[in-house]
Amino acid sequence: MQLKGKRVLITGGTRGIGRCMVQELIDGGVTHIAIIARDKKGLKEISEANPEVKFLRIAGDVANIDILREAAARIEDKWGYLDILINNAGIVSAGPLEELPDEEIYDQVAVNLTAILLLTKYCVPLLKSSEDGTILNISSGLGLIGMPFYSVYGSTKAAIKQFSDSMRRELAPFNVSVTCSFPTATATDMMQKFEGREMDSPQLVAKKSIEAMLKKELQVIFGGDERIKDNEMNFMDPKKFDAKVVETYEQFKASSEGHKAL
Ligand SMILES: NC(=O)c1ccc[n+]([C@@H]2O[C@H](COP(=O)([O-])OP(=O)(O)OC[C@H]3O[C@@H](n4cnc5c(N)ncnc54)[C@H](OP(=O)(O)O)[C@@H]3O)[C@@H](O)[C@H]2O)c1
Repeated sequence: MQLKGKRVLITGGTRGIGRCMVQELIDGGVTHIAIIARDKKGLKEISEANPEVKFLRIAGDVANIDILREAAARIEDKWGYLDILINNAGIVSAGPLEELPDEEIYDQVAVNLTAILLLTKYCVPLLKSSEDGTILNISSGLGLIGMPFYSVYGSTKAAIKQFSDSMRRELAPFNVSVTCSFPTATATDMMQKFEGREMDSPQLVAKKSIEAMLKKELQVIFGGDERIKDNEMNFMDPKKFDAKVVETYEQFKASSEGHKAL
């Protein structure tokens, strides 16, 4: 699959990994990009910095069903079809479950999960009208391994993995592929309040995720061999992984304290 000439919808394309994916798309020859994000200024800036690209700027919250419907309706009206849907926007609020504010539990589910289910639903007819449709979902390493203090965030991200598998199988007869990306800690605004730990660059995560999508790979997992081994241990011998978590419990708790990006 080639990027040139493709019509793309991306959520959260104004900052972090999403912003870097937009750059990858532009560098690859995409000239029609729809972006959903809340900050109007960020949308305006990206559009002014790339005058050669025709942007559909959809300013609003993905947790608002009307914004999602508006996005699909505007794409149908302007383009008539969609080649690439990138479900990227996400938020996080870490902490012991009993201390998480109820609103932040609801919001993480609404933004990280419900919005993706609904936006994909509205885009499926448009993707089926493409000659070569594809969906890229941004999950997280925390969607593969359930870690303490990320019970809600991790649950939404695990659901994205399951959703990706289901939709890949459901859409296979319609030539619509689905790729799921599992970044580990990446240096973006989302991680400003996370203490310590080496991080991937958002440019690397964006590049590798787009490459995997173009090759129609099922998934791309970041974090190298160590992460692959952890995933295997967590699946094959979860009690052994529990013991590993006990060793770093206090350190991980301190690192995640106050980790919010909403
Ligand atoms: N950074 C990491 O370490 C990491 C690791 C694993 C997975 N991920 C996942 O990667 C994705 C991108 O994360 P990031 O680190 O690039 O985040 P980020 O730097 O915080 O950027 C988030 C982007 O999503 C948009 N957004 C957030 N909430 C939104 C909402 N309710 N409605 C519409 N747009 C919204 C933001 O724009 P506005 O603020 O203007 O709305 C922004 O463009 C997320 O799904 C995240 O869970 C990140």
